[in-house]
Amino acid sequence: MSQNPSDCSDDIDRIMEVMIGAFAPEYGEAWNRRQVSDSLLLAGTGYCLIGADGSFDPDLAEPVAGFALTRSIFDEEELLLFAVLPKYRGKGLGAALLTEVIVRARLRGIRRLFLEMRRNNPAGKLYTGFGFRTVGVRPGYYRTASGERLDALSQELHIA
Ligand SMILES: CC(C)(COP(=O)(O)OP(=O)(O)OC[C@H]1O[C@@H](n2cnc3c(N)ncnc32)[C@H](O)[C@@H]1OP(=O)(O)O)[C@@H](O)C(=O)NCCC(=O)NCCS
Repeated sequence: MSQNPSDCSDDIDRIMEVMIGAFAPEYGEAWNRRQVSDSLLLAGTGYCLIGADGSFDPDLAEPVAGFALTRSIFDEEELLLFAVLPKYRGKGLGAALLTEVIVRARLRGIRRLFLEMRRNNPAGKLYTGFGFRTVGVRPGYYRTASGERLDALSQELHIA
């Protein structure tokens, strides 16, 4: 599902609120507003928000706890960005959001989900729990603020 960024400016604001608070700056993983907005111009790119109360795509009155940004091509979907604000972590919201991403993807005929994460990202525990498995390694793909190189792990999950 593609989105017209001019129609979802409030949601981009809410995505950015999570983006700024959720990603550790040293890894350079967070996107800026322009990157998010531009990505939503691409066919197949979409997002899902989760509220602090666990509702999906909550109305503006509900604080947003997390978001997923995805892009699908044919029957494959990439989890581009996935985050929950620190104050809402450890309550199952990340797992609920990932479950919703999978449910929505299946409804659109997606058969395989994939993502890239830096090696040793604690989020790997969540992905492994869902059955994601590592199918590739890009040595030294990420560069931290201090210049350290970290491998990227390509992970996939068959959902059909
Ligand atoms: C990854 C992230 C979205 C998880 O959100 P969350 O709401 O805390 O996840 P949940 O509470 O649903 O946890 C789900 C499972 O994953 C595990 N887990 C998730 N994040 C973890 C972490 N940082 N450290 C250890 N375990 C973690 C939990 O232990 C839990 O397993 P359990 O139920 O068996 O205990 C959140 O930590 C985050 O935003 N991280 C920073 C951004 C990021 O790295 N995103 C992924 C990029 S690839």
